[in-house]
Amino acid sequence: MLVLSGPNLDRLGRREPSIYGTATLSDIHARLERLAEERGVTVDCRQSNHEGVLIDWIGEAADAGFEALLFNPGAFTHTSYALYDALRGSGLIAVEVHLSNPDAREEFRRRSRVAPACAARVAGFGGDSYVLALEGALGLLERKTTPKP
Ligand code: DQA
Repeated sequence: MLVLSGPNLDRLGRREPSIYGTATLSDIHARLERLAEERGVTVDCRQSNHEGVLIDWIGEAADAGFEALLFNPGAFTHTSYALYDALRGSGLIAVEVHLSNPDAREEFRRRSRVAPACAARVAGFGGDSYVLALEGALGLLERKTTPKP
């Protein structure tokens, strides 16, 4: 499972802690790695402030045989048709993740450009959003591979 975080999320813990909390992205990645180990899966957690790098990683993950992606695109959520195209073209099961609840914030955050390319969205639970998204994505993968009775 690939876990991608976009711009400014490298500053978690110091960036507007009243909105995003005090946990750092490394803390969150460590939690995901522990949970993944318990579940017998591997997670590859990365962050970039650059849209093109995120696009490259999404394409490469699809080619490398990854099946699912947890994705917090930061502010690119609200602007990036290029990330939408990358997700659509990847065929990955994508879960959109946000620490805050964008729908309860400024008007411009209410539109997600990537949402139509995602299977699900988890938002508003702080760092727990990533953990809940991992649980949810594993469920989606399991339902995809388990034959229906
Ligand atoms: C965010 C929400 C976005 O609107 C914002 O631009 C971010 C973080 C979140 O995790 O709550 O950078 O994606």
